[in-house]
Amino acid sequence: MTELAWGRRYLMCPPEHFGVLYEINPWMHREVRVDRDKARTQWDGLVACLEAAGAEVEVMESHPDLPDLVFTANAGIVDGRTFIPARFRHPERQGETAWDIAWFTERGYEVVGLPSGVSHEGAGDALPFGGVLVSGYRFRSDAASHAYLSRLTGAAVRSVELADERLYHLDITFCPLDDRRAMVAPVGWDVYGQRVMEALVPEPLVLTDDEAFAFCANSVVVGTTVVMPVCPPRVGRQLETWGFDVVVCEVDEFLKAGGGCRCLTLALDVTL
Ligand code: ARG
Repeated sequence: MTELAWGRRYLMCPPEHFGVLYEINPWMHREVRVDRDKARTQWDGLVACLEAAGAEVEVMESHPDLPDLVFTANAGIVDGRTFIPARFRHPERQGETAWDIAWFTERGYEVVGLPSGVSHEGAGDALPFGGVLVSGYRFRSDAASHAYLSRLTGAAVRSVELADERLYHLDITFCPLDDRRAMVAPVGWDVYGQRVMEALVPEPLVLTDDEAFAFCANSVVVGTTVVMPVCPPRVGRQLETWGFDVVVCEVDEFLKAGGGCRCLTLALDVTL
């Protein structure tokens, strides 16, 4: 296997102000209480797992009015020293953008924007694989954003239409593992998207519907370590047969907001 060329540096944001304060995906229910201490313990645990696997973690300060800021995957798309901030679908998350832009600007990134009126939720809906940028659309990102992304990054973009509201971001349906392999959840894609992904991924680990809805694909890959929110034995056996080490990192406080391990991280070492 040839390991992924990215995935050793991440941006994360601690859950001091995390909560389910609104409902913008089917997993979020305001009446479900988040245990902030437990969330903090789980978040620290994720940082520890990533570092133990050899990754570096950079931390962004949390903000009292932005409960979903912990899900840094949605901040935007990183391409070398360029940052393309997200344009969030829902007003509830739009306040995050100024905060994200400030972080990247202070660190010397060039910030280039998508046109207003075109939604795209960052790495949550865009993951590099096989020399292209795979991008999901429908629930959070607009199909039209893909042509702009291609123009801004120079990367070829493969568009995949998401088909199930519960799998509302690409990173809940797709997890690149190495240059040939990826976990895939076809239940989350329309028929055309399924064909695109069949053609793109030479050796897929096809998740069952139950595995997909349990957020198996929302995992973080650091070299040959796969850090997962859950791992059914069947999936673990396949990953281990392929030479990966599986680490399960409990993040159920964050699943209450519809996010797992991948959603809590933004890879900073991506060049498209
Ligand atoms: N509550 C957040 C939202 O609905 C969760 C984001 C999950 N992020 C992800 N990359 N899948 O926007």
